[in-house]
Amino acid sequence: MKIRNIIFLLMGIACIMLCSCKLSANDCKGNSVDVVADLAYCHNQVKRTLQLIENDSCMLPRSINTMSDKWNMTNAYDWTSGFWPGILWYDYENTGDESVKKEAEHYTNCLADLLNPEHRGDHDLGFQFFCSFVNAYRITGDPYYKKIALAGADKLAAFFNPKVGTILSWPHMEKEKGWPHNTIMDNMMNLDLLFWAARNGNNKDFYRMAESHARVTMQHQFRPDYTNYHVAIYDTVSGNFIKGLTNQGYSDESCWSRGQAWAIYGFTMVYRETGNKEYLRFAEKLADAYLTRLPDDYVPYWDFDAPDIQNQPKDVSAAAVCASALLELSSLEDNKAMSEYYWQAAEHMLNSLASDYYRCGNQKTAFLLHATGNMPAGYEIDASINYADYYYIEALHRYKTLKRINTLSEKQ
Ligand code: GLY
Repeated sequence: MKIRNIIFLLMGIACIMLCSCKLSANDCKGNSVDVVADLAYCHNQVKRTLQLIENDSCMLPRSINTMSDKWNMTNAYDWTSGFWPGILWYDYENTGDESVKKEAEHYTNCLADLLNPEHRGDHDLGFQFFCSFVNAYRITGDPYYKKIALAGADKLAAFFNPKVGTILSWPHMEKEKGWPHNTIMDNMMNLDLLFWAARNGNNKDFYRMAESHARVTMQHQFRPDYTNYHVAIYDTVSGNFIKGLTNQGYSDESCWSRGQAWAIYGFTMVYRETGNKEYLRFAEKLADAYLTRLPDDYVPYWDFDAPDIQNQPKDVSAAAVCASALLELSSLEDNKAMSEYYWQAAEHMLNSLASDYYRCGNQKTAFLLHATGNMPAGYEIDASINYADYYYIEALHRYKTLKRINTLSEKQ
């Protein structure tokens, strides 16, 4: 056995032991996730939400404040607009319920307006088109969805700056905050749309853009301990990196939890698409930086470095994004012990999220409580938010699918 493999094996065993200790230290249900029951819970909440909202309009449910049980609704232009149709597609995929499919079709079509040339948009076009139209195409095979998703990718690619080598995230911040070419960590998620479009359309340049974005981000947007800067600022003309700072974290030098979760998810996806092991090794480092900072229940506070941490709000959206990412990372690992380690960590997260403390249950019709959207700006704090729910149902879907694959390969 090569030395590297032995080191990995020992790390894996140590990590599994650590993980198991944490498991017994709280009220999680144990290792295995009751995925059938958890998906049934999601289906029930989806049906309840559909009864509550006006189904023939293009207003979409975004969040529910702490003390309320009413959805704050939003339109197709909001950055979160893809998550509700995406939740419906996953729910339809899991249940085969045709009435949910009809709703998924309706809300997905609402997002076609994003192609309107008068709407410039920003990097969020990736979230918006991928969660809605790409899921719709993956599940139905209908070429209409593919056509719209490819047009969405064209629109996203227009934000790529070849001098910098990344996609511009927020054009409006150039004026508002004096940030020239800015790239936020969340933008790693939008590479999924470009990679998908490179495989499904004619523009192979999209692959090069997505890979370049990942490489430049890897070079500049992380500290030596593999925690991320939420925002990287580059000189638009020379392409030089200027500085790292935050928009939604506690401070420029702190580690905003959801940003780290976006990074783990993003670099795992880049490894899936490129097969380049450099990205796999990098995703491992990011995951380890996240996992070693978690509280016992594996659901992070909104920022890992916020002062008086135990009295800060949690962020289930980071936990859901990270659980989904770790399941994929586990499935792509080239080291069995590490694969097991990430799988168990994801199970721990999903079991925590299924506990009464994190579930809405009868109180509200979303899936999860205790998400934090934007603490510095003071909104959606300790709330239910549609992207937490989207990545939660995606993680459950991945768990179900990957567990079946693992069981089949063990039998062979
Ligand atoms: N992409 C915005 C956020 O994560 O809050």
